[in-house]
Amino acid sequence: MNIEISCKINRQNVKASVSPELLLVDFLRDDIGLTGTKRGCGIGECGACTVILDGQTVASCLIPAAAVDGCEITTVEGLSEGEKLHVLQQAFLDHGAVQCGFCTPGMLLSAKALLDKNPKPTREEIKVAISGNVCRCTGYTKIVDAVEAVAR
Ligand code: FES
Ligand code: FES
Repeated sequence: MNIEISCKINRQNVKASVSPELLLVDFLRDDIGLTGTKRGCGIGECGACTVILDGQTVASCLIPAAAVDGCEITTVEGLSEGEKLHVLQQAFLDHGAVQCGFCTPGMLLSAKALLDKNPKPTREEIKVAISGNVCRCTGYTKIVDAVEAVAR
Protein backbone atom coordinates (compact mmCIF):
# COMPACT_ATOMS: atom_id res chain seq x y z
CA MET A 1 0.00 0.00 0.00
CA ASN A 2 1.36 3.41 -0.94
CA ILE A 3 2.14 6.13 1.59
CA GLU A 4 1.17 9.75 1.10
CA ILE A 5 3.99 12.21 1.66
CA SER A 6 4.22 15.96 1.63
CA CYS A 7 7.64 17.61 1.61
CA LYS A 8 9.50 20.60 0.28
CA ILE A 9 12.05 20.00 -2.48
CA ASN A 10 14.17 22.94 -3.60
CA ARG A 11 11.70 25.37 -2.02
CA GLN A 12 8.70 23.83 -3.81
CA ASN A 13 5.93 21.95 -2.02
CA VAL A 14 5.64 18.39 -3.29
CA LYS A 15 2.91 15.87 -2.52
CA ALA A 16 3.26 12.26 -3.65
CA SER A 17 2.09 8.75 -3.10
CA VAL A 18 5.06 6.42 -2.72
CA SER A 19 5.64 2.73 -2.26
CA PRO A 20 7.29 1.83 1.08
CA GLU A 21 10.21 0.27 -0.85
CA LEU A 22 10.93 3.33 -2.96
CA LEU A 23 14.26 4.95 -2.10
CA LEU A 24 14.67 8.71 -1.96
CA VAL A 25 17.27 8.71 -4.76
CA ASP A 26 14.85 6.92 -7.11
CA PHE A 27 11.93 9.11 -6.04
CA LEU A 28 13.95 12.24 -6.83
CA ARG A 29 15.28 10.96 -10.15
CA ASP A 30 12.42 8.89 -11.55
CA ASP A 31 9.28 10.37 -10.00
CA ILE A 32 10.24 14.04 -9.67
CA GLY A 33 12.69 14.20 -12.60
CA LEU A 34 15.57 15.66 -10.59
CA THR A 35 18.29 13.61 -12.25
CA GLY A 36 21.13 15.77 -10.92
CA THR A 37 21.20 13.46 -7.90
CA LYS A 38 23.29 10.49 -9.02
CA ARG A 39 22.92 6.82 -8.16
CA GLY A 40 26.38 5.33 -7.79
CA CYS A 41 27.03 2.46 -5.40
CA GLY A 42 23.52 2.25 -3.97
CA ILE A 43 24.91 1.20 -0.59
CA GLY A 44 25.87 4.46 1.08
CA GLU A 45 29.56 4.36 0.17
CA CYS A 46 30.19 6.81 -2.69
CA GLY A 47 28.27 10.00 -1.88
CA ALA A 48 27.01 10.49 -5.45
CA CYS A 49 23.41 10.51 -4.19
CA THR A 50 24.03 13.10 -1.44
CA VAL A 51 21.23 15.57 -0.79
CA ILE A 52 20.61 17.96 2.08
CA LEU A 53 17.72 16.81 4.27
CA ASP A 54 16.65 19.26 6.97
CA GLY A 55 20.12 20.82 6.98
CA GLN A 56 22.11 17.56 7.09
CA THR A 57 23.75 15.73 4.20
CA VAL A 58 22.36 12.24 3.69
CA ALA A 59 22.87 9.41 1.24
CA SER A 60 19.53 9.35 -0.55
CA CYS A 61 20.15 5.73 -1.59
CA LEU A 62 19.73 4.69 2.03
CA ILE A 63 16.54 6.58 2.86
CA PRO A 64 13.02 5.49 1.99
CA ALA A 65 11.08 8.21 0.19
CA ALA A 66 8.28 7.58 2.68
CA ALA A 67 10.58 8.82 5.47
CA VAL A 68 10.81 12.38 4.12
CA ASP A 69 7.23 13.33 4.90
CA GLY A 70 7.34 16.84 6.38
CA CYS A 71 11.01 17.33 5.49
CA GLU A 72 12.86 19.90 3.45
CA ILE A 73 15.25 18.63 0.78
CA THR A 74 17.83 20.42 -1.32
CA THR A 75 19.20 18.75 -4.43
CA VAL A 76 21.80 20.15 -6.80
CA GLU A 77 18.98 21.64 -8.89
CA GLY A 78 18.12 23.83 -5.91
CA LEU A 79 21.52 25.53 -5.81
CA SER A 80 21.29 27.76 -8.87
CA GLU A 81 18.73 30.52 -9.19
CA GLY A 82 17.45 30.44 -12.74
CA GLU A 83 20.46 30.89 -14.99
CA LYS A 84 22.62 32.14 -12.12
CA LEU A 85 24.96 29.51 -10.76
CA HIS A 86 25.52 29.15 -7.02
CA VAL A 87 28.92 30.50 -5.94
CA LEU A 88 30.11 26.96 -5.27
CA GLN A 89 29.12 25.83 -8.76
CA GLN A 90 30.99 28.77 -10.27
CA ALA A 91 34.03 28.04 -8.09
CA PHE A 92 34.06 24.38 -9.19
CA LEU A 93 34.12 25.56 -12.82
CA ASP A 94 36.76 28.22 -12.17
CA HIS A 95 39.07 25.76 -10.39
CA GLY A 96 38.73 22.86 -12.83
CA ALA A 97 37.05 20.77 -10.13
CA VAL A 98 34.67 19.03 -12.56
CA GLN A 99 35.64 16.34 -15.04
CA CYS A 100 32.98 13.69 -15.72
CA GLY A 101 30.73 15.45 -13.20
CA PHE A 102 29.29 12.30 -11.65
CA CYS A 103 30.44 13.18 -8.15
CA THR A 104 29.84 16.91 -8.54
CA PRO A 105 26.24 17.19 -7.28
CA GLY A 106 27.10 15.32 -4.10
CA MET A 107 30.33 17.27 -3.63
CA LEU A 108 28.48 20.56 -4.04
CA LEU A 109 25.84 19.63 -1.49
CA SER A 110 28.40 18.40 1.05
CA ALA A 111 30.26 21.70 0.57
CA LYS A 112 27.07 23.74 0.86
CA ALA A 113 26.03 21.99 4.06
CA LEU A 114 29.49 22.72 5.49
CA LEU A 115 29.48 26.40 4.52
CA ASP A 116 25.93 26.86 5.82
CA LYS A 117 27.14 25.78 9.26
CA ASN A 118 30.71 27.03 9.08
CA PRO A 119 31.28 29.80 6.52
CA LYS A 120 35.05 29.90 7.13
CA PRO A 121 36.20 26.27 7.37
CA THR A 122 39.83 25.30 7.35
CA ARG A 123 41.19 23.17 4.51
CA GLU A 124 41.13 20.21 6.88
CA GLU A 125 37.48 20.83 7.72
CA ILE A 126 36.66 20.96 4.00
CA LYS A 127 38.41 17.62 3.48
CA VAL A 128 36.43 16.08 6.33
CA ALA A 129 33.16 17.48 4.95
CA ILE A 130 33.69 15.85 1.54
CA SER A 131 35.28 12.68 2.90
CA GLY A 132 32.12 10.69 2.12
CA ASN A 133 32.16 11.77 -1.53
CA VAL A 134 34.24 9.73 -3.93
CA CYS A 135 35.70 11.31 -7.08
CA ARG A 136 37.27 9.01 -9.65
CA CYS A 137 38.48 11.81 -11.91
CA THR A 138 39.98 14.97 -10.52
CA GLY A 139 41.64 13.84 -7.38
CA TYR A 140 40.49 16.06 -4.59
CA THR A 141 42.89 19.00 -4.63
CA LYS A 142 40.93 21.11 -7.11
CA ILE A 143 37.65 20.37 -5.36
CA VAL A 144 39.08 21.45 -2.01
CA ASP A 145 40.60 24.53 -3.70
CA ALA A 146 37.16 25.46 -5.07
CA VAL A 147 35.42 25.17 -1.71
CA GLU A 148 38.26 27.05 -0.02
CA ALA A 149 37.95 29.89 -2.53
CA VAL A 150 34.29 30.36 -1.58
CA ALA A 151 35.08 30.08 2.12
CA ARG A 152 37.59 32.91 2.09
FE1 FES B 1 24.25 6.51 -2.46
FE2 FES B 1 26.60 5.72 -3.44
S1 FES B 1 24.68 5.91 -4.47
S2 FES B 1 26.18 6.55 -1.46
FE1 FES C 1 34.26 12.41 -12.29
FE2 FES C 1 34.40 13.34 -9.78
S1 FES C 1 34.51 14.50 -11.65
S2 FES C 1 33.87 11.35 -10.43
